[in-house]
Amino acid sequence: MTQQTLIITRPDDWHVHLRDDEAMQAIVGHTARQFARAVIMPNLKPPVTTVALAQAYCARIERALMASGVVKGSFTPLMTLYLTDKTDPDEIIRAHEAGNIVALKLYPAGATTNSDAGVTDLLGKCSKVLEAMQRVGMPLLVHGEVTDPEVDVFDREALFIDRVMIPLRKAFPELKVVFEHITTKDGVDYVRDAAGPIAATITAQHLLYNRNEIFKGGVRPHFYCLPILKRELHRVALVEAATSDSPRFFLGSDSAPHAKGLKENACGCAGCYTAVHALELYATAFERAQKIEKLEAFASFRGPDFYGLPRNTGTVTLKREAYTVPLEVAYGSETLVPLAAGETLPWAMV
Ligand code: DOR
Ligand code: ZN
Repeated sequence: MTQQTLIITRPDDWHVHLRDDEAMQAIVGHTARQFARAVIMPNLKPPVTTVALAQAYCARIERALMASGVVKGSFTPLMTLYLTDKTDPDEIIRAHEAGNIVALKLYPAGATTNSDAGVTDLLGKCSKVLEAMQRVGMPLLVHGEVTDPEVDVFDREALFIDRVMIPLRKAFPELKVVFEHITTKDGVDYVRDAAGPIAATITAQHLLYNRNEIFKGGVRPHFYCLPILKRELHRVALVEAATSDSPRFFLGSDSAPHAKGLKENACGCAGCYTAVHALELYATAFERAQKIEKLEAFASFRGPDFYGLPRNTGTVTLKREAYTVPLEVAYGSETLVPLAAGETLPWAMV
């Protein structure tokens, strides 16, 4: 008989954008309903570059959670700092001692939304910081795309491996690295086979869709994110990795809200909104691969194991029940269009 219910340990989202102010207020409850913890990206304007800024942001998140009616303590934001050319190595020590700051995020300058303050020359400008991170065991979360405008947008991740990732890990072999939102077979092969402490997050959109989705019947901006969706062979490699027994691949939704008008625009913003239905989307991808039994390890075990945090207690339940993705959700004075809006998915969170 087909399985009707799936009970898994409470999952975590190891990569999410909560934004700030009224935008955050509109969406923070979505992530808190689905996940016990989430790693909060620091690409605000201005970016979250110091422990003081991260703590102030964390306090705003806690207030927004409270205002959304989330029970105190039922959701824990795990904070990150935005690495710049000017990050002070002492800031790493302070971050390590803070307890709620779990990583630094590397945005190559110009790679994506609010990355202008990002790093221009990682080994040239950040070696002291990387050394400190390696020493205290603070992971580096990597947006792995080269920013050279000459490089084809579909090749930016694969080239990043040779140009940045390999030299970085050669120089700092004990540094914990998460290759964020990998999108290629190249990324999968590298992370699966490399020596040392490395892992990767995978989004739902990169498990569910290939690049054709962006152009079906016209330009469809809600399927545009960075790194951009790739060819089918890459999607297949990502599904194999996520549903495999490798401890190195885990859930990071990269849910990145942009108001509908900024997506459906002559120059639409990059990002898919998946926080309202992340588990439903991931369950759909695992179901299609006939590997639904592997969802728990991907969503709930491998992330905390890599970060050296305890696994969550408690469970969430998914039911085999048609779930129709809302066409729009409220976003302050505007609205958001979630990924796969209007589509019906086979699993629903209870
Ligand atoms: O599509 C994306 N959106 N990719 C990123 O790296 C950033 C994110 C955002 O913040 O909107
Ligand atoms: Zn992101």
